Parts: sequence; C-alpha cells; structure tokens
Amino acid sequence: PKISPVGNSANIKWHQCSVGKLDRQELLQQKGCVIWITGLSGSGKSTVACALSRALHSRGKLTFVLDGDNVRHGLNRDLSFKAEDRAENIRRIGEVAKLFSDAGVICIASLISPYRKDRAACRALLPEGDFIEVFMDVPLQVCEARDPKGLYKLARSGKIKGFTGIDDPYEPPLDCEIVLKQTERDCASPCDMAEQVISYLEEKGYLM
Ligand code: PPS
Repeated sequence: PKISPVGNSANIKWHQCSVGKLDRQELLQQKGCVIWITGLSGSGKSTVACALSRALHSRGKLTFVLDGDNVRHGLNRDLSFKAEDRAENIRRIGEVAKLFSDAGVICIASLISPYRKDRAACRALLPEGDFIEVFMDVPLQVCEARDPKGLYKLARSGKIKGFTGIDDPYEPPLDCEIVLKQTERDCASPCDMAEQVISYLEEKGYLM
C-alpha cells in the first residue's frame, strides 16, 4: 500500500492527554527508547534482543521485543520481502516502536532492516537520542555457516529468491550507536552483548 508521509490525516487533529510520557517514565523509573537491532539473518539479532530483554527485566525495567519474524505473523502478514514491502514492514514496526517508547517502555526491535534509508526514517520518528541503532556485525560466512533455519541453504539452491546477503542487499550502518562484532574466532556471548547495550543505556541515563 502507498502511504504518503501525512497519510489521509488532513481532517484529523492530534488529541493531547493529560498523562504524558514524562508521567509514565516517572512511574516506571526509566526512559522510553527504541533499541533497533539490525543485521543479517542468523547474525543473532533475536537472541541478543531476548538476552537484553531478560537482563533489563531482572533489573526491574519494562521492555518489549518487536521481532521481525514475529510481527510478520500478524500485523505485517500481508508483506513480502521485496524492497517496498520491507520498507513498509520497517515503517510499521518503527511506528509501533515509537508508541512503545512513548509509553515509557524500552522497546527492542530486531529485524534485518537492510536499507539505510528505512532505518533513518524510523530514527527520524523519535526524539534525538531515543533511537539507539545496534549493528550485529557478523560476516555473511559466519551467518551462513550457522544457518539456524536452513534458509541460506534454500537461498543458495535458488529455492528462496531475494534472500538478504545472497541475492538481495544489506546496507550496514555507517554511523550507529553500538556495534556488536563477531567473527569466526571471536564470539561474545549474547549476555555479554546485552551488557554492552545496558552499559550504553546507563551511560545515557535511560535506566534512571
Ligand atoms: S526485513 O528485511 O527487515 O523486512 O526482514 P524481517 O522482517 O526482519 O524478517 C526476516 C526474517 O524472515 C525470514 N526470511 C527472510 N529473510 C531475508 N530475506 C528473505 N528473502 C527472507 N525470507 C524469509 C528469515 O527467517 C528472517 O529472520 P532472521 O531472524 O533475520 O533470520
């Protein structure tokens, strides 16, 4: 579906509620934000998202994970993997993530989000600093060797067309907040990677 930046909202006015983001943040003792985890399939996005959610939860912080695969089971079930549908997938998840962060929640979005311009559009939805981009910097050969869902094998044999990293592009971030690097020889645990993100959140005052 083609949706213009202002949508069809010409006759729709914003309604302000007396309970705002600051009130909710005060209640929750945390600052709402979006941690956007991008990377190839098999790079560990979902694993790190869950480890991060678990670690923050045990510190009494409210989180919610929006996982690309999961959201495609419901809200985004109508979308394919062609570039314009990926853009719409990312746009919708960006808008939902914005609502969560406005609710005061630490929202963790984990999806391939292969195009810089789509990620930049999500960043632009949020107040300065509240979009924290995390790049799972894992070489394609490592992701392909893991192949947790057998999808790289299917892509290599031509049974899946337009698979990210094989016959569809992935544009790594040029300037993101956090890089979680893994190589064949050097692989930090998901908990260690989650701690790296938590250190960043602490440093920036998101955990109060
Ligand atoms: S995107 O690009 O952000 O819209 O993708 P996303 O919503 O994160 O969905 C990625 C998961 O869908 C599965 N899958 C594919 N990935 C990439 N390319 C193609 N063609 C494709 N077809 C299915 C795959 O399981 C991805 O999950 P992850 O967790 O990334 O491995």
